[in-house]
Amino acid sequence: MTVTIVGAQLGDEGKGGMADRWSESASVVCRYQGGDNAGHTVVHDGEEYKLSLVPSGAIRGKTNVLGNGCVVNPETLFEELDALQKRGVDPDVRVARRAHVIFPYHRVLDGIEEDVKSESDFDVATTGRGIGPTYEDKAGRRGIRIGDLLDTDVLRERLEYVVPQKRALAEEVFGVETGEAFDIDALYDQYAAFGERLAEENMTVDAGTFLADRIDEGEDVLFEGAQGTILDIDHGNYPYVTSSNPTAGGTCTGTGLGPGIVGDGEIVGIAKAYLSRVGTGPLPTELGGVVGQTPDYDEDTERGDEALATELREAGGEYGTVTGRPRRIGWLDMPMLRHSTRANGFTGLVVNHIDTLAGLDEVRVGHAYTLDGEERLTLPATTERWADCEASFRSFDGWDDADWDAIADEGYDALPENARAYLDYISDELDVPIYAVGVGPGREQTIVREDPLA
Ligand code: IMP
Repeated sequence: MTVTIVGAQLGDEGKGGMADRWSESASVVCRYQGGDNAGHTVVHDGEEYKLSLVPSGAIRGKTNVLGNGCVVNPETLFEELDALQKRGVDPDVRVARRAHVIFPYHRVLDGIEEDVKSESDFDVATTGRGIGPTYEDKAGRRGIRIGDLLDTDVLRERLEYVVPQKRALAEEVFGVETGEAFDIDALYDQYAAFGERLAEENMTVDAGTFLADRIDEGEDVLFEGAQGTILDIDHGNYPYVTSSNPTAGGTCTGTGLGPGIVGDGEIVGIAKAYLSRVGTGPLPTELGGVVGQTPDYDEDTERGDEALATELREAGGEYGTVTGRPRRIGWLDMPMLRHSTRANGFTGLVVNHIDTLAGLDEVRVGHAYTLDGEERLTLPATTERWADCEASFRSFDGWDDADWDAIADEGYDALPENARAYLDYISDELDVPIYAVGVGPGREQTIVREDPLA
């Protein structure tokens, strides 16, 4: 049995919490895309762990796999592993030999390109972790993979081919001086040492075979997606996306397992009861805005919903885990969720942050869009057309703040009636059952109606 956990919106929907909870029933936790641009906080036995690359199962004694669809910064990987070991956790993490390696020059180039793009308000507000440039090299067939770090002749050969190109790009195209991050000898020494450690600790695997064997042995595997559907390079709002496929299909290409295996399991979409977004791009249901991220944000213009956006941002702790940036806030967007449900084939849904909306008189939902005078129920394919969409809202009666711990103990029926009406609407519109509802940040503050692996 497998379960794939996918962000249904723009990332930061609370996937980590659910992955952590459901990983209890799994033996293996596997990430299939992304790198250290993700950020999740896991609380275990009263201790808080902040991770960006290592899957959350590491803290629970599970086997963890970074699939071939991931881009791996070995420096981050070992920093996170060392920090966990210092705290008495002994994580079992395996890395696909086919996964691509993030090098320091990728990070530098990520920053350079963002700076250049920002001159024409075209920047993506990336996490600066070198994600895009590493996937670019993968697609350009000049990338260096984890398996190459274990063969020093191959590593040197590849570095000698690629680094001069990167240096020329930085210096001659962008006019930026380069340093150690572009020095072949320094990179070789550092990354050969990473390769040695990967080999010594027996960390590398052929992910597809490794996972297939575990599944054949009857073990359950949880696939943990990073980011979210609208940040998907194919199905998101390009170009304001990450450079991988967080959508469920990424589970196959990012691990080496066939669609039959993934499709035989459950695919659970994690959504927030409202929206938040780090980074630029349209957000038709946006409340207020954030300087530097909201495309038409003008500090001198009075923005009616600014106070509500601030309130929700504070209540929901809406600041980037990796970057600390304030997130933009919006009402739930149903065209986005319809798009996401189709692109992923959700078999179940988790709706988080029902408690964050408590205390409002009215809760609104972008039910549909109007584009060129016509109603549409899902997203247009281009970002520019999406920016032209005007949300038409439905209004729900709000619910009061409550003793959420007690509600989490008692179960779904203990939720305020208006909150249940809101959840019923979402489930009916998407024709997907609600598997769990988040009513607080803690691990126990989740009402689970259906555990896909139990
Ligand atoms: P990159 O993945 O660092 O290249 O960033 C590309 C876009 O994805 C930017 O808008 C980021 O803010 C966004 N992004 C990347 N990772 C996350 C995440 O874990 N949560 C939310 N947004 C993310």
